[in-house]
Amino acid sequence: MSAFSRGEQVYDSRIYDVARWGFGVPTVYWDPPPRPAEFAFGPEPFEMWGVPFEYYIPKGSRQAYLVRSGHSEVYADFAMKLMLGRFAREATRTFAVKAYAGVTEHERKQTILREAATLAETKWFGDLEADKERVLRELRAGREAKLSRDWAKEASQPDADAAKRKEALTTAEREIGQADKSRLQALRKAEQEIAAAQQAREKAAREAQWAIESAARDRESQAREAAEQARVLKLSRPIPLAPQPGGIVFGTRIKDGVDFVVPLAHLQHILLSGVSGAGKTVLLHALLHQLVQSDQVERLVLIDLKGGVSFNRYRISPKVEVIYEMADVIRVIDQVMALMVQRQNYMRENGIEFWRQRRTFLVIDEYAEIQTEIDAADTKEAKAEARRLAANLASISRRARALGIVMVCALQRPTTDAMDAAVRNNLSCRICLRAATSQLAASMLDDLERLPVRPTELPTGEFYYYDASRGLTRLLKAQIAPGVDLADLF
Ligand SMILES: Nc1ncnc2c1ncn2[C@@H]1O[C@H](COP(=O)(O)OP(=O)(O)O)[C@@H](O)[C@H]1O
Ligand SMILES: [Mg+2]
Repeated sequence: MSAFSRGEQVYDSRIYDVARWGFGVPTVYWDPPPRPAEFAFGPEPFEMWGVPFEYYIPKGSRQAYLVRSGHSEVYADFAMKLMLGRFAREATRTFAVKAYAGVTEHERKQTILREAATLAETKWFGDLEADKERVLRELRAGREAKLSRDWAKEASQPDADAAKRKEALTTAEREIGQADKSRLQALRKAEQEIAAAQQAREKAAREAQWAIESAARDRESQAREAAEQARVLKLSRPIPLAPQPGGIVFGTRIKDGVDFVVPLAHLQHILLSGVSGAGKTVLLHALLHQLVQSDQVERLVLIDLKGGVSFNRYRISPKVEVIYEMADVIRVIDQVMALMVQRQNYMRENGIEFWRQRRTFLVIDEYAEIQTEIDAADTKEAKAEARRLAANLASISRRARALGIVMVCALQRPTTDAMDAAVRNNLSCRICLRAATSQLAASMLDDLERLPVRPTELPTGEFYYYDASRGLTRLLKAQIAPGVDLADLF
């Protein structure tokens, strides 16, 4: 404690020597004057012979100072120094106890602060350790985790322990980094395994799907083949008629071997044509067989002026009337006309719009014979009769369908010579068996270009069904009604 110097302080050893016991009192040149915050004790005002002084002890020092108030110059004057020495001794005697207590108090506070700092420091390391452990625990469990405080910033706070703190932090971060790396590795491995499993699953699913599809394809193609075989087999031989309830089977579709059925109520007037031997009569038999059996048919008038015997078999049915003579044709057409008028009145009186009751069919084979008779009339009476017949036929073709009367007319060549256009244009359901010429077929059907088989090349029994009212074309093969002996018909 023999030497003391600090910054701008100038120590005067002579003065110090005077006051070296207890608290020494050096003379001080101090500029700027010390700030009160830096005192451990004082400043205490002290007056001697009217001169004001201040007495104080700076922090961290056990040295007392005596300074003339408001002055900061060096007391160079020897007498002054002597006086100061006396003052100092006096001041020290006066303040020693007080100053000592102040200094002790300061030191005690410092100790407490130091201990607190140490404690805080220990706590920092403990907290960092706990935070690190938590992060490691999370990472080892495969989860993500981060330190919860900005340890790096705290670690670099400038003081003696900063290096220690930084080192602790670096260690913690290294450990965390390793744990994180191994977590990421585990994660990556797991991801790879998952992806592999996924691929395996997808592959298995694809294969199963493929197997199912190919089995389905096989089954489909087998079914298609079987259907095709059935179709070919069915169509390769005469097809026995297989009536269906509720409709008229017109024939079997060449395309798929399925029977083509038209509900009776949908039937339009039918014009049926084809060269001799094309299968008109066989088809008519198939239709008639069904019409005779049908309970939706009230009456069947069959006209065949060629004197064929083929309609005879239907005579046993009470609803069938077979006609071979022109005179009977005129009579029966008059009857049909009367029936039409009667039904028209009935419907009008009862407010009926559509005929829903049983139907009457007027079937004329070799229609050209009637036309020939009409055209051939020579006597005046015969001409009048023929005119009436022609008008009636036209009228029936025009109005009868709505009244539940359906015409079915067959002929070889559907020309206007063979059938008056006034009749023909109203027969909207066309059945075209093998035609003599494309022109004749064109007058029956819609668009010859689109047909799969040329009408002139249709095999016997095969025909186009064309419903002009619905724009529907079907290639069919006629079925053979029971009792129709094909050999007989040649
Ligand atoms: N759908 C058919 N299936 C098998 N053969 C048929 C068929 N239609 C007609 N035929 C054969 O053609 C022959 C002539 O038939 P047919 O109906 O009398 O002709 P068309 O009345 O047009 O002159 C029959 O005897 C029969 O041998
Ligand atoms: Mg015939």
